[in-house]
Amino acid sequence: MNGPAGRVAVVTGGSGGIGAATAAALAAAGARVAIGARNATRLTATAERIAGGGATVYAHPLDVADPASVEAFFDGVEATLGPVEILVANAGAARPAPLEDATTDSVVETVGVNLTGALLCARRVLPGLRRAVPPGDLVLVTSDAGVHPRAHLVAYSAAKAGLEAAARALALELEGSGVRICTLRVGPTLTGFADGWDPAATEAAMGVWQAQGTQRHWATLTPDDVASVIVDALGRPRGVASVLVELQPVP
Ligand SMILES: NC(=O)c1ccc[n+]([C@@H]2O[C@H](COP(=O)([O-])OP(=O)(O)OC[C@H]3O[C@@H](n4cnc5c(N)ncnc54)[C@H](OP(=O)(O)O)[C@@H]3O)[C@@H](O)[C@H]2O)c1
Repeated sequence: MNGPAGRVAVVTGGSGGIGAATAAALAAAGARVAIGARNATRLTATAERIAGGGATVYAHPLDVADPASVEAFFDGVEATLGPVEILVANAGAARPAPLEDATTDSVVETVGVNLTGALLCARRVLPGLRRAVPPGDLVLVTSDAGVHPRAHLVAYSAAKAGLEAAARALALELEGSGVRICTLRVGPTLTGFADGWDPAATEAAMGVWQAQGTQRHWATLTPDDVASVIVDALGRPRGVASVLVELQPVP
């Protein structure tokens, strides 16, 4: 069994954007899917939409940066669907501002959701991924901002770079287990990621990104583009790991 069919797949940040598209694609591929995010209303609506296609979808509130929330979420998933076999650590967020203007909460939350949260979720499922037959899959959603860091997104760039380093270190720990890790490095994608951004802060950041060449064009991927690549990666023969996949829109 290579692909997601019949396996239990968790998508963090599964209520919108790339996460919702990934959960829908995994469900369409035959996985039993669990999604988590903080806004329970939006989460439930997404779960109902995906389940409308006849899929099994479990939704439970989740704040990946809160260790107690992570435990409660995965306890719920396992009690309802069984052991987790695929984790897509997708939850992410950022707020643009120069570091010296960023609030303490913003810095802590950005590292918390994009780095600490992904590690807490991965740690929680790793024993089960090792035990799974076939061994499980871990997909870590990172950003091209990790390798092409952006001014006004210092904590976000650092957190995504840190997550890529974590993936490489974890792959060494998992050698011989059969568990596969895929780092999915995503470029600009049309989602609600910037919906809550302060307009003035956004304008300031965009100006700097254009001047410094980190924003050279306005082409974007769609969430479905990203989701399809995740499903493809999971469907590779068991002896093949998509270790690092970078997706960019064609400008
Ligand atoms: N869009 C892009 O251009 C782009 C580019 C590169 C990488 N990425 C990465 O792709 C991933 C998905 O982003 P997206 O573009 O799909 O953004 P999005 O539409 O804003 O979706 C983000 C998801 O994460 C959830 N989330 C945020 N903070 C969370 C937390 N603390 N705990 C649990 N869930 C949380 C959100 O729900 P709640 O707010 O309700 O919790 C939402 O479901 C992120 O890791 C992002 O860094 C995006």
